[in-house]
Amino acid sequence: MRNRMPAFMGAIAGALGLAALGWAVGWPGAAVAIAAMLGLLAGAVVGQGLAWLRTTAGRVARLEVQQSRLDSVLRDTERLKAQAGEMQASLARIRADAQSAQDALRRDLAEARKSFDDTVRLSAVDSDTKVTAAVESARVNLRTRMEELAYRQSVERRQVRTLSAQRTGRQTSLLESYLQLQRLVPMPLPMPRPGSWAASEDLLLWLVGDVLEHHPGVVLDLGSGQSSVWMAGAMRAAGYDGLVIGVDHDEAYARATEDLGRRQGVSPWLRVIHAPLSPLIVDGREVSWYDVAALEGVEGIGLMCVDGPPSVEDAEARWPALPLLRDRLDPGARVVLDDMVREGEQTIAADWAARFPEMQSQRMDFEKGALVLTMP
Ligand SMILES: C[S@@+](CC[C@H](N)C(=O)[O-])C[C@H]1O[C@@H](n2cnc3c(N)ncnc32)[C@H](O)[C@@H]1O
Repeated sequence: MRNRMPAFMGAIAGALGLAALGWAVGWPGAAVAIAAMLGLLAGAVVGQGLAWLRTTAGRVARLEVQQSRLDSVLRDTERLKAQAGEMQASLARIRADAQSAQDALRRDLAEARKSFDDTVRLSAVDSDTKVTAAVESARVNLRTRMEELAYRQSVERRQVRTLSAQRTGRQTSLLESYLQLQRLVPMPLPMPRPGSWAASEDLLLWLVGDVLEHHPGVVLDLGSGQSSVWMAGAMRAAGYDGLVIGVDHDEAYARATEDLGRRQGVSPWLRVIHAPLSPLIVDGREVSWYDVAALEGVEGIGLMCVDGPPSVEDAEARWPALPLLRDRLDPGARVVLDDMVREGEQTIAADWAARFPEMQSQRMDFEKGALVLTMP
């Protein structure tokens, strides 16, 4: 019944519209009736068509969201493949070393046997001396090769151990961050997994720590997501009346953040703005950034997290954030730039440091690297 509703409404609107037109123009009764019938049919077709278009647009948007989730899973898979590749390369080197030591040993033994045979054949008198010398030289060669091999193997093993210890250490410290995050900011429902497209656990912990400690009145989260929801949750936990403004260029992600915030009960502390990317000139530089009109009235920012827009097409896509919003920051405000492991973010940081020397800066050794700038 609900699916036929648009056609039904369209049919009524069409019939009434054409009948009213007929009456207004003064058509005879039969013509008005025919016009109403035609209006009924046309209205039904148009109503159903519009409903179909709306459903299709919804499906396309959902498919786009699924596509980008798939992209993110593929990226994770690539990273894991690269790490597995490093380990495999190390093991292959150990295997190649063992193989080359075995070959050398075979050569040494063959030489020793040949020298022994020659000696026996050439002279019966001094054969003892020659055989002893040949055997001794083969033994020395063998020992040297074995020592070399043992040394190379121990180096390779150490490298493999260091690699996996580093990885385990990183994972453990991320897990510790996540445990603290959950203790500091209770949520009534499960939260999505951090990392990948979302901020990593250590950055999330730093952000909620900042909210809990400094009580920024307005937090601007460029690139909305679970970071916005965690910070709004921190405001709820601290019991003060702040606001996290999450900004997203993509309407589907903006709505997803809003929805996550609603389900976790933090809507009073969260506003999500959909600001599509638009062309802009900042200090003579042509950029594509969030529509600044959508950010009108956002002032008194105490904490700004720069984690968007995505840098898929432009490695320095996040550069305009500080030049455009510096004057809206409170004294002492903190600005966090995520993803400092990437070259694009390092270039942005160098440019910001030159433009805003009055701001203190600190590199953070987070999973994806981060930079914290503090206003005087
Ligand atoms: C780095 S993400 C922002 C993440 C957010 N600060 C957080 O911690 O959850 C930047 C933008 O990427 C988009 N995005 C989020 N998740 C995505 C995904 N899985 N695939 C593609 N784009 C995504 C959203 O439009 C978001 O504003």
